[in-house]
Amino acid sequence: MSFTNKSHVVTLLFVISSILVLFVSALDFSNVPAEAPSSGEDGFLPLAKKHVVIRNKVRNRETLDVHCHSRDDDLGLIHIPWNQSWDFRFHVNIWKRTKFVCQFSWLGGGTHFFSIFKVSRDDSIIGYPVCQECIWEVGKYHNDTICRINSDGSLPFCFKMGDHF
Ligand SMILES: *[C@@H]1O[C@H](CO)[C@@H](O)[C@H](O)[C@H]1NC(C)=O
Ligand SMILES: *[C@@H]1O[C@H](CO)[C@@H](O)[C@H](O)[C@H]1NC(C)=O
Repeated sequence: MSFTNKSHVVTLLFVISSILVLFVSALDFSNVPAEAPSSGEDGFLPLAKKHVVIRNKVRNRETLDVHCHSRDDDLGLIHIPWNQSWDFRFHVNIWKRTKFVCQFSWLGGGTHFFSIFKVSRDDSIIGYPVCQECIWEVGKYHNDTICRINSDGSLPFCFKMGDHF
């Protein structure tokens, strides 16, 4: 009986130390300098670095007004000329709850709302590919469509933007 209890304790200690090791190596990974070669997969670890790029591809070639915020940060009102882009960088928080939402509007195109970054879609092993550089094209196909493209421009994942947050 006491033997069983002891082996349980040993197992528990082993599990706890494994978790600590994983946690510490996750932290180490996120501290790798930007110029270091990136590992093949774009990392879904806590504190992963993210770079969101928004491209104005609206069909009537108007300037795109963008206003993005997270729970903690308001990125202000940005004007993106047609066929230009704007970007921002952040780290996914330790609990992986980081989320940025944006309002998009342009003359003749209406106003649309979209979660430009959310962990379940952009930083999760299931579903869409994880992006470290998350490149979005607004309004290329429809006023209310936004597409995430791969770095080589292939395979867009398109989403319908909402009428409200
Ligand atoms: C839009 O931008 C891309 C990339 O910067 C460029 O290759 C392309 O020629 C531009 N299109 C127009 C119509 O200006
Ligand atoms: C959306 O786009 C079409 C052309 O692609 C345009 O005719 C229409 O007026 C646009 N604006 C709105 C607010 O739907």
